[in-house]
Amino acid sequence: MTSTAAVSEKLLEWYDRSARSLPWRVPPAGGAADPYRVWLSEVMLQQTTTAAVAPYFAAFTERWPSVEALAAAPEEDVMAAWAGLGYYSRARNLVKCARQVSEMGGFPHSEDALRKLPGLGAYTAAAVAAIAFGQRAVVVDANVERVVARLFAIGEPLPGARKAIRERADAITPDRRSGDFAQAMMDLGATICTARAPKCLLCPLSAECEGRATGDPARLPVKSAKKPKPQRQGTAFWIEREGHVWLVRRPGKGMLGGMRALPDDGWAAGGDGSGEAPIRGSWRAGGVVRHGFTHFDLELGLAIYAGKSFEALGDGEWWPVAQIEEAGLPTLFAKAARLASA
Ligand code: ADE
Repeated sequence: MTSTAAVSEKLLEWYDRSARSLPWRVPPAGGAADPYRVWLSEVMLQQTTTAAVAPYFAAFTERWPSVEALAAAPEEDVMAAWAGLGYYSRARNLVKCARQVSEMGGFPHSEDALRKLPGLGAYTAAAVAAIAFGQRAVVVDANVERVVARLFAIGEPLPGARKAIRERADAITPDRRSGDFAQAMMDLGATICTARAPKCLLCPLSAECEGRATGDPARLPVKSAKKPKPQRQGTAFWIEREGHVWLVRRPGKGMLGGMRALPDDGWAAGGDGSGEAPIRGSWRAGGVVRHGFTHFDLELGLAIYAGKSFEALGDGEWWPVAQIEEAGLPTLFAKAARLASA
């Protein structure tokens, strides 16, 4: 039987020796972390790896060193700086949240109050309360889920197992150092208790681990069979004139909302190429870009304008092709732009 006190003690001991050094982190038992940096990093780390986040975190904190600075930034600038990180509603909520917090005079300390801020779900509110404010909070992300499912040999498949996992995570969370404990669990999941080929010989919790005792910890957590991802098709339009390309801003709500983009045929609305081109005239095929979103894979054909008239284009802007990297295009359209200007 797994002893809960032994787990937190051994894990914190291991963390004191082995914590990863990450740009948003203070060292183990290193005192108060800056809530702004903790919040910003945790929002960036939702569904995104530490390696992908690191350069964005550096750029954001350099450009906007405080929550007040971020609150004062135009939303378009933040959206453009976020380009490439994905899940763009995070960036819109980031600005909203920064403005709210700035008006409140700082981040609230309790998990409940944090949970009410834009973009803070159960995970992020718990992580910020624990890491920035030393509050006891049960922090469960995918890494923690895996560690807990193995530690207690929880064989029920996800997502059904989430309740049992949460209860067990609660039982092993200490009253003190719960921020370090949460980050120790994440580090253990990222470096030792990995999805494939866990390194049990190096694990500080191996003696406590019921999953290891079963002989096949890597089997856990069990996942329900995934449905195949739907495939969608669409078209993006490249309209170039005198070294400039026509860009639009996507509507605030919906896929890639608020981001600068190439005009397209409305694939995001579930479309299959039924939308219209932004301008009449002749077009030629410019190749195909493939991009995986969470809920579907997209095959985006690129149509290149070959006509001479540029009237009636509607809302948008001419952007210098030579500076297209600075337009803040989301990855899908950045790929299309590379294809068009290759
Ligand atoms: N993933 C999400 N938050 C993290 C953190 N604070 N440390 C390490 N990995 C994380």
